[in-house]
Amino acid sequence: MLEFSQSSAAPDAVDSACVVVGVFEDAMSPAAAAVDVAGGGVLARLKTSGDLTGKPGATLVLHGIPGVKAPRVVLVGLGRKSALDAHAFLRACNDAGNALKSLPVTDATAYLPEVDVSGHDANWRARTCALAIDHACFRYTATLKPANADAPRPAKLALAAGADVAQGIAQARAIARGVTFARELGCLPPNLCTPTHIAAQAKTIADEHAESVTLEVLERADMQKLGMGALLAVSSGSATPPKLIVLQYKGAGDEKPHALVGKGVTFDAGGLNIKPTGSMEEMKYDMCGAAGVLGAFLTAVEMKLPINLVCVVPSVENAVDGGSYRPSDVLHTHAGITVEVLNTDAEGRLILCDALAYTCKRFQPVALVDAATLTGACVVALGAHASGLFSADDALADALLAAGNATLDRAWRMPLWNDYRSQLESAFADIANIGGKSAGAVTAALFLSHFTEGTRWAHLDVAGTAWVPGRKGYATGRPVPLLAQWLMDCANM
Ligand code: BES
Ligand code: MN
Ligand code: ZN
Repeated sequence: MLEFSQSSAAPDAVDSACVVVGVFEDAMSPAAAAVDVAGGGVLARLKTSGDLTGKPGATLVLHGIPGVKAPRVVLVGLGRKSALDAHAFLRACNDAGNALKSLPVTDATAYLPEVDVSGHDANWRARTCALAIDHACFRYTATLKPANADAPRPAKLALAAGADVAQGIAQARAIARGVTFARELGCLPPNLCTPTHIAAQAKTIADEHAESVTLEVLERADMQKLGMGALLAVSSGSATPPKLIVLQYKGAGDEKPHALVGKGVTFDAGGLNIKPTGSMEEMKYDMCGAAGVLGAFLTAVEMKLPINLVCVVPSVENAVDGGSYRPSDVLHTHAGITVEVLNTDAEGRLILCDALAYTCKRFQPVALVDAATLTGACVVALGAHASGLFSADDALADALLAAGNATLDRAWRMPLWNDYRSQLESAFADIANIGGKSAGAVTAALFLSHFTEGTRWAHLDVAGTAWVPGRKGYATGRPVPLLAQWLMDCANM
């Protein structure tokens, strides 16, 4: 994670290994103008020669400009001045981060937050720029040999916004902490990232914030006593024990808490309905919902938000073994509802249903949001750009959509209509765990809704947004920004 600070030094005089400056297609930004004047018209000449376009996506690194103290200047295209909206700004910050991470520098000063972005203030610009550059500079190192892990990379980022942005930078620090936590946990391989490891990570959060955070970890025997037959069934084929992690943060006396619940399947082989080659390889990311709610919890705690918050993570491995649960098993859930298993690969909803019912019953939260890499169907519907949002509560849904828009960690509302309910009918139990071919993301959410009755609840399906697939894939840290913003909004911060 980068160390953020605020800078008010002039771009030509700042003592920094690298200065990052925005360039419009049709105008100079204030920082670009300052560099141009100090450098005797160097940018103007590059514009004339066509080397500097200011187009979105175009970056240019200049070295040793006379009159400019920093040895490197990264010029980042911002597009047309009138078209600079939040997305264009974010993209430019991201381009800047990608340019920075390939330079041999450990510190930089970014002047991008000086430019106007319609509808947003300087704190937002500083925060968004800090987070985007931090995101681009993230590098997974946990299981690399020291020579590879220790390669130099940017460590410090100063932000110049033309205003006091201490608040935006403080927020960026807390959010980056949560996002980085989620990304590192999400990237960790499943032989290391077991339910036990996730519980240990929750303990590091609780230990670091012992004044406001408490942790309980429920073991298999505890879950048996609580009648969590669905959560236990999923874990029954795995050699690694299940954990139900419960973190509580007290920031507001005796008020009822907000609640976050996250799917923590550390590897999803599918169970007896085993996944085929091509579908199984990346299922270490099936705990990204858990990583996301833990990261958002960490952010909320670091910000000392004046709310109470609980974070509940059911964590298991969905494996294949003689002890595995079977299609056609009927499970008795904590809520008293029986469930017929028609597919052991629809396991996320089974661990979540017990965790959701437990959270509702024990804490009576003012609002409950869960995050889960729940369905491939949601990836088909929305791809990588929007998380699927499901809620029967319009005000809660609107609050979450707004939080996603403000952080560019966007969600899109999907239906949760009762019209789909008949798809979950079962001859042998109260409900079945799958709803057939059509509307798979909706029927998964509807399944969960049976276990949150009477609670203000929303579900985020992050199967398409929490990670980027491929050989060089990675965990994105989503939906930490959305959830953290929602909690900030709930706390009026
Ligand atoms: N973890 C998967 C969902 C998933 C699939 C996430 C692809 C990311 C990428 C989930 O447990 C699952 O296997 N869902 C099944 C449900 C089906 C059996 C009803 C799916 O989506 O195919
Ligand atoms: Mn599955
Ligand atoms: Zn899964």
